[in-house]
Amino acid sequence: MNLTAETITAAPSATRPRQGLHVITWGCQMNVYDSARMSDVLRPLGYGPVDTPEDADMIILNTCHIRERATEKVFSELGKLRKIRDERVQGGKSRTVIAVAGCVAQAAGEEILSRAPYVDLVLGPQTYHRLPEMVARAARAGGTVIDTDFPAEQKFDYLPDQAAPQTNGNLTAFLTIQEGCDKFCSFCVVPYTRGAESSRPVASVIAEARRMVMSGVREITLLGQNVNAYHGLDENGRSTTLAELAIDLAKIPGLERIRYSTSHPRDVEQTLIDAHRDIPALMPFLHLPVQSGSDRVLKAMNRGHTADEYRDIIRRLREARPDLALSSDFIVGHPGESEQDFQDTMQLIRDVGFASAYSFKYSPRPGTPAAGQPLQVAEDVKDRRLAELQALLREQQDAFNESLVGTVQDVLITGLGRKPGQLAGRSPYLQPVHFDGPAELIGQIVKVSITIRRTNSLGGVLIRETALAC
Ligand code: SAH
Ligand code: SF4
Ligand code: F3S
Repeated sequence: MNLTAETITAAPSATRPRQGLHVITWGCQMNVYDSARMSDVLRPLGYGPVDTPEDADMIILNTCHIRERATEKVFSELGKLRKIRDERVQGGKSRTVIAVAGCVAQAAGEEILSRAPYVDLVLGPQTYHRLPEMVARAARAGGTVIDTDFPAEQKFDYLPDQAAPQTNGNLTAFLTIQEGCDKFCSFCVVPYTRGAESSRPVASVIAEARRMVMSGVREITLLGQNVNAYHGLDENGRSTTLAELAIDLAKIPGLERIRYSTSHPRDVEQTLIDAHRDIPALMPFLHLPVQSGSDRVLKAMNRGHTADEYRDIIRRLREARPDLALSSDFIVGHPGESEQDFQDTMQLIRDVGFASAYSFKYSPRPGTPAAGQPLQVAEDVKDRRLAELQALLREQQDAFNESLVGTVQDVLITGLGRKPGQLAGRSPYLQPVHFDGPAELIGQIVKVSITIRRTNSLGGVLIRETALAC
């Protein structure tokens, strides 16, 4: 999963909003989506985006609990925000409302109350539709207002209809279709922070996708903690698979590209594999986390599949879509991981070949089964294994990027590049691509002849005839 640390800002508006809102987002793509939805919910109260916390009447820290370091960052950031607030008050400005949202709020709400009692609002990922009511309660009562329920109502039913999509220049957007997890992997906090698995109804997803496309979006990434466990109901009350949903979405005129993340190997059904063969809009790039290549460790992790079953899924996917490239997540140093287990992971990486990957040292999380296991792996062993694994993954990523030099790729132009006259876009494999071309082409999908690979991007030459024909 693509972990991100970014501040959500919108294009600067001509007039300053009545109330400045600054949202700081950490964690996964779903948090990026949630941050945009929280901004939507607050818009009717007069809140609009401002670029800096110093200018904000309200600051939301949307947090991640996945690893220890992510959680500790929250408390250090809160200390900084408190200082900013004090300086604002001393300067005669309004007292900033500080809110902590997301997975740390859910998992460690009480800890926030005791370690940072100056925080005004603490809200979990399932209650952000109640933000306006919470803001009003905080203003009335003072003290910290906390809401970390798993409410019976679905927050999606309460979000404003005209939600502005979380976009990158209005051309790419995230859309949450499934949330929560019932799989309880030994190491993971997500089932505790996001709650039980649930899927949005098909009509609600299609309506939001249409709104996004009408506002200019060309590429949508469907999000879920286990997005391919999607089973939303259609208008006849029938459970729908991700493959069926993708077929419906691909019919929306103007929606050129569909992606989904994060999927679980256990839920890769044949219908989804067939969808990769049959739906051209479904991009040939799949993030399918495996975590380990050792059957012993996969069992200890409660992943529910073996390394060979993973290899077999990849084989079937590649049969269906030969140009499919893969990305994955890996954890080294799960309790009990032996040197042989680690070598099995290295072998799986060699066997599959990944275009990119995220890899982490195992981080014990309070309340998860693995945290209490006796055979914890020493930190220096984890460090060494991570370095070895990342060197191999880097080699594979470089080789994949190199293999594209000399090919022609469809590139969605998302904006201007850094140099004058340059455009920036993304390939089907999510690589940034830079090339010279006129700004009028922004928003189009053009053919680019790839001429060079850089560390994390590609360079190329626009094939003009095709661009003009678009
Ligand atoms: N639902 C996804 C993963 C969500 S969490 C899946 O099943 O694959 C994103 C990634 O963070 C995981 O894939 C895992 O590699 C990593 N991660 C989760 N918990 C972790 C922990 N305790 N220590 C280290 N990495 C962890
Ligand atoms: Fe976490 Fe496992 Fe659920 Fe993924 S499938 S969110 S790793 S518990
Ligand atoms: Fe982090 Fe929560 Fe996402 S723990 S990875 S923000 S689901």
